[in-house]
Amino acid sequence: MGRQRDNVFIKYYSLIHMKGLAGKIAIVTAASSGIGKGIAKVLVSEGCSVYISSRDENKLRKSAEDIKKETGKDVSTIPCDLSKPDDVKLMLNEVKKKVGKVDFLIINYGDPRVAPFLDITDDDWDSSINMFIKSTVYMTKSVLPDMIAREYGRVVFITSLTTKQPLENFAISASLRAAVVSLSKVLSIEYAQKGITFNSISQGYIMTPRLENIARRNAEKSNISVEQAYEAIKQTIPAKRFGTPEEIGNLVSFLCSSDASYINGTNIQIDGGFVKFPF
Ligand SMILES: NC(=O)c1ccc[n+]([C@@H]2O[C@H](COP(=O)([O-])OP(=O)(O)OC[C@H]3O[C@@H](n4cnc5c(N)ncnc54)[C@H](OP(=O)(O)O)[C@@H]3O)[C@@H](O)[C@H]2O)c1
Repeated sequence: MGRQRDNVFIKYYSLIHMKGLAGKIAIVTAASSGIGKGIAKVLVSEGCSVYISSRDENKLRKSAEDIKKETGKDVSTIPCDLSKPDDVKLMLNEVKKKVGKVDFLIINYGDPRVAPFLDITDDDWDSSINMFIKSTVYMTKSVLPDMIAREYGRVVFITSLTTKQPLENFAISASLRAAVVSLSKVLSIEYAQKGITFNSISQGYIMTPRLENIARRNAEKSNISVEQAYEAIKQTIPAKRFGTPEEIGNLVSFLCSSDASYINGTNIQIDGGFVKFPF
């Protein structure tokens, strides 16, 4: 029995080492819930030291507790509002002071305002430009010089299906996330010879608190039950199910692994077949 357990452990241990994730330092933003939390959970269970950030310290602490319960591993928390450039700079300074280097920068974002174009205010645009564009630039600029010096790094931007399939009322999401995807491509070309890869992920419907809110809103609007609202969305997905945050985490972990060292500058759909455009 003991030997069997040892063998399982050795197999698991060598798998972790083969992927090259053990001992690496990762930052995951917007990770007190949903997709970011799922990514942090997968990376920490594969041996990374993970720092999670978001605006609400209590939610962050709860996220860290949940991850510990499920994986037995600790993640560190650093509060940061991505729509406030000063906050982002403070967070980066703190990470640098604490850990010195970052191997994996995983930039996930909060939810932008979803509304008809004329209802979106200048303030909505300003805070979203701060969250999607400025924070992306600051965070990438902050970790890049050290990644170049070490000739190693992975940067993954978590965007949305709206980059491939713009939807009505999603003007902010579709336009600003598309800019992130293009920036990722440019960076991948500029630093391809430095051992650093830049990729982005366009996820479809993932079962998170945000999707719960959407289902509740749709249910109210159409006078149907929340279950019926979930079902109506599911029917638009060829897989007829929602994705899980851990499935996004698995893709991020693959992109960070040594197996993915030649994957650079891509935008990967993970959406159960939702986006129909073939290229
Ligand atoms: N779930 C889906 O089906 C789906 C599909 C396509 C795209 N997305 C996008 O994926 C991202 C994550 O969504 P989710 O479904 O995981 O939502 P979620 O469960 O509601 O989580 C959103 C996370 O973002 C954080 N956050 C919000 N505003 C922030 C800000 N200004 N600065 C820093 N952190 C912030 C929240 O934490 P705090 O409240 O603590 O700040 C929370 O951790 C969003 O951009 C969403 O639009 C989701």
